Amino acid sequence: MSPASHTGDLDAVTAPDLRERGSLKWTGIDQDRNQDQDQDTIGAWVAEMDFGTAPEVTAALHAAVQDGRFGYLPPGRRADLALTCAQWQQRRYGWAVAPEQVQPVSDVLTALELTIRHFTRPGSPVILPTPAYMPFLTTPPLHGRAVLEVPMATDGGQYVLDLDGLDRAYRAGGQLLILCNPANPVGRVLTAGELAAVTAVVDRHGGRVFADEIHAPLVYPGHRHVPYASTSGTAAGHTLTATAASKAWDLPGLKCGQVITSNQADAAAWEVVGSSASVAASQLGAVAATAAYRSGERWLDGILGYLDRSRLALGELLAAHLPELGYRPPEGTYLAWLDCRALAALDGTAPGGGDPAEFFRRHAGVAVVDGAECGQAGRGYVRLNFATPLPILRQAVTRMAEAAAGQRR
Ligand SMILES: Cc1ncc(COP(=O)(O)O)c(C=O)c1O
Repeated sequence: MSPASHTGDLDAVTAPDLRERGSLKWTGIDQDRNQDQDQDTIGAWVAEMDFGTAPEVTAALHAAVQDGRFGYLPPGRRADLALTCAQWQQRRYGWAVAPEQVQPVSDVLTALELTIRHFTRPGSPVILPTPAYMPFLTTPPLHGRAVLEVPMATDGGQYVLDLDGLDRAYRAGGQLLILCNPANPVGRVLTAGELAAVTAVVDRHGGRVFADEIHAPLVYPGHRHVPYASTSGTAAGHTLTATAASKAWDLPGLKCGQVITSNQADAAAWEVVGSSASVAASQLGAVAATAAYRSGERWLDGILGYLDRSRLALGELLAAHLPELGYRPPEGTYLAWLDCRALAALDGTAPGGGDPAEFFRRHAGVAVVDGAECGQAGRGYVRLNFATPLPILRQAVTRMAEAAAGQRR
């Protein structure tokens, strides 16, 4: 089956079908906030996709369930996961990773917590380019760490890292930089040149990097994911990389991420501090991730083709119906970052006054993420998840446009 025919029926999936399937994205919505009770809210918030997963993953899970593989992650499965993850890194991104460098972990946020606790100076602040994935702002304080927000700069309408800002954050005492690439929510895929510039800043201060590359498989034509730790010995020496199959193959509830170490000292330290986290990775999650890395590429590329059309279609829809919104199709991820600041001005009297996510939730019945949750730099923006059938995406934009028109009247 060609990738196209694989995904050809995605358009036919309806919102009631998706509610019936019962994902968090579609059912974890407070419907009471929707003021037009005639229409159910469209789920476009949490980073889940509406496309199921690769048939190879489903088959592997069926076999594991049939065999009753519900115990702790055994060494054979763990080795298979490490091998296929390493092969994926080599095949897809050209990064030569030895299986011994790959360690299982329940999820990427757990990897971040362990990194903060065990790989940084006690009490040192965490450096975070913003807008950022929401838990990156809330997780460090749980460990007594301040977050030094470094708003990204823009260059020709494109988000870029503010290298001087990063430098200042290190001088202010920060030690660990969270480098999320491809970037949630802004959709940038950093080039090798941009990554080298980051390395120079980090190295100047003896800093560390937590490279979150969970969205790496989701990169569009014309862009290329470059694993940060693969770019130089210096980068490898100060980086812990975290990844997972959970975004690209939509498996986040199965709880299996991977940490990739890239120097001897970190590998030895992770053996110790990561041992309980590796037990917390689920066996079914490892089965699914292994199948995804080993034989899920064809399905993924079909989905990427669909998402590629959707990210461009979203631009056309917004230009036609909601031109006040700023949007640049992302280079990676299935998240659209919408600049609603022009709309917020129109929306001064709306309930939720100036909060565009609340506005769209109440008046359009579309649940998106409030950009303010992504840091100060996200105020006036929303994050919209477009990994949904195109007819539903069209309906979401139409509803958002009608709600905005209602404000203008
Ligand atoms: C950039 C990024 N990192 C981490 C996560 C969470 O991953 P996990 O469920 O493995 O903790 C997400 C989820 O959307 C994400 O987008």
